[in-house]
Amino acid sequence: MITPVLLCGGSGTRLWPLSRKGYPKQFTRLIGERSLFSASAARLAGPGFSAPVVVTGSDFRFVVSEQLLAEGIDPAAVLIEPEARNTAPAVLAAALHLGAADPDALILIAPSDHAIADAAGFRATVQAGVAAAKAGQIVTFGITPTRAETGYGWLELEGMAEEAVALKRFVEKPDATHAKAMLAAGNFLWNAGIFLFTARTIIAAYEAHAAGLVGPVRAAVEAARADLGFLRLDADAWAKAESISVDYAVMEQAANLSVVPFSGGWTDLGGWDAVATEMGSDAEGNSLSGAATALGCSGTLLRSDSDGVELVGIGLTNIVAIAMKDAVLVADKSRAQDVKLAVEALKAKG
Ligand code: GDD
Ligand code: MG
Repeated sequence: MITPVLLCGGSGTRLWPLSRKGYPKQFTRLIGERSLFSASAARLAGPGFSAPVVVTGSDFRFVVSEQLLAEGIDPAAVLIEPEARNTAPAVLAAALHLGAADPDALILIAPSDHAIADAAGFRATVQAGVAAAKAGQIVTFGITPTRAETGYGWLELEGMAEEAVALKRFVEKPDATHAKAMLAAGNFLWNAGIFLFTARTIIAAYEAHAAGLVGPVRAAVEAARADLGFLRLDADAWAKAESISVDYAVMEQAANLSVVPFSGGWTDLGGWDAVATEMGSDAEGNSLSGAATALGCSGTLLRSDSDGVELVGIGLTNIVAIAMKDAVLVADKSRAQDVKLAVEALKAKG
């Protein structure tokens, strides 16, 4: 059995104003009928998977419970982080929690900011990594790259294969020059951000490469207290854990990495440009949702995400416009990644 660990504590600022601090993108209905978090939980429920462990922030605990209940999923545990410290402490906390009961527990780290088209194909791909994980490998899942993306991790392979193969190198968020070179080289895949390993393997990797995290996170897990069905990690210990992603803290350093390629349609919904692509478009390349009307527009995303707010675009080319009841975003599509700057500017305004 594999225990999914659902990470859903990120703030998703590039999808403002739909994604808010108190209600980030993974819980909203970005595309389709389900939230990305619900879709991610549902994808990993059923044969071969045991009840998930969720790691999230205090503000999100009730939306997590509500959305899991709606899917008919009863979590094995919901770990509450006193504050967001990025993914390295979150992953370690889950591994220590599960490892205390069974050091050989198989853990699948599942982020909640992706869309995956072929859920059954994805589950089969995960199963293809089990033997390697049991043998002590940290198994990554690789996506065929289509552009010189600097926002992802890149996986360098010796050769391509269906089953898990050893990884030569893990490069997190390269600069543009390196990304271009890796795309051209042809023996790289994107890191999907999904990992399979045993508790024992990943704890050993932290001890080897991120030893400073182990003491504080272990103390936070050991002193965790039960609160209304949630498990609150100890705040004093947690505050001593460095805020860093698992990719930088462990994956870039570890030598025991493998990859299983996945070709069943993976999209990171990291910005409005990616959301527009995933939503699909009409003959003019426009993507519309809610009470939105496009007149003489092309390549434009118009979303009215609040009931009763009419959004009309006239003569727009490659524009993103998102209307909520209390906030409106209008941006050039090529600047979609800069939306996080808007959030920072608003924060600075207070
Ligand atoms: N519990 C918890 N606490 N979850 C978190 C935290 C935190 O402090 N920070 C982020 N997360 C969750 C996010 O909600 C998301 O589901 C997942 O962890 C990944 O975090 P991101 O911040 O979105 O990572 P990224 O997109 O920059 O990079 C990762 O994903 C890429 C693919 O989308 C890396 O693994 C890259 O290598 C990878 O290519
Ligand atoms: Mg992400």
